[in-house]
Amino acid sequence: MTEVLNDAHSATVVQTAREQALVETVVASFDGATDDRLRTILQTVARHVHAAARELQLTEIEWESMITFLTETGQTCTDTRQEFILLSDVLGLSMQVIGMNNPPVADATEATVFGPFFVEGAPHIELGGDMALGAPGEPCWVTGSVSGTDGAPIVGARIEVWEADEAGQYDVQYGDDRQAARAHLFSDNDGGFRFWGLTPTPYPIPHDGPVGRMLEAAGRSPMRASHLHFMVTAPGYRRLVTHIFVEGDEIGWKDAVFGVKESLIKSFARHASGPTPDGRYVTSWSEVTFDIVLAAADRN
Ligand code: BEZ
Ligand code: FE
Repeated sequence: MTEVLNDAHSATVVQTAREQALVETVVASFDGATDDRLRTILQTVARHVHAAARELQLTEIEWESMITFLTETGQTCTDTRQEFILLSDVLGLSMQVIGMNNPPVADATEATVFGPFFVEGAPHIELGGDMALGAPGEPCWVTGSVSGTDGAPIVGARIEVWEADEAGQYDVQYGDDRQAARAHLFSDNDGGFRFWGLTPTPYPIPHDGPVGRMLEAAGRSPMRASHLHFMVTAPGYRRLVTHIFVEGDEIGWKDAVFGVKESLIKSFARHASGPTPDGRYVTSWSEVTFDIVLAAADRN
């Protein structure tokens, strides 16, 4: 009996040593990379991928499904759809990388995921203009300011805003060339801004591909918490990519891409009917304030 146990133990020891030797050989195979950072990345990835496979005791069938999944992820990518970024988003990797690369600086506004729906060259609107541009939804009056961490107003900051309509669709999903619910504007001489948008509503991330199937298999929802996207740039300041989220939202912290941050949850005051701050008469509308603080650009 003891002999059998000893044999089993020795077999395990030999197997473990064999597995470890392969890891070391693979890691060493990257020693010659001339770029130090690339060498570090490749060796670290090799170690972690092997560690995961060994911890899971990955079967050949599972390995094959993983290859099929990654192949389909690549095949789903087009000029306008990036399924790998979506995979990174739902794994929380995008938020992790954003968090590591945008450490908190004083009271600077926090960053969150970029998402796939930003479009270069969105229409310019004047202060007080309407970025909905015909997209359906409840009007939302958005006001705020842009300043540095020293409190000084930032004049002429470029503010890009984009969001889904009340049906959860971005203009790029309409299937025509319309631009709606996206625009850019500039902060005024006091760093202030104001515009009409739409009260954000929850919508699903694209979930008709492999990432959607993965979420379904895991019993996870593809829904994003209601939000309005911002990208703010000004010379001498770090580019800010962020959203504001609606306080009391039904999805809230269950956001499919882990993008919600406490500091970005804002109160959207609801009003049953007009008149609005600029005299428009609407059946219902909301308003929100977002004071944006930009960190100074890194000097290196
Ligand atoms: C979005 O908010 O637009 C978005 C972000 C990440 C993945 C999919 C959509
Ligand atoms: Fe979005």
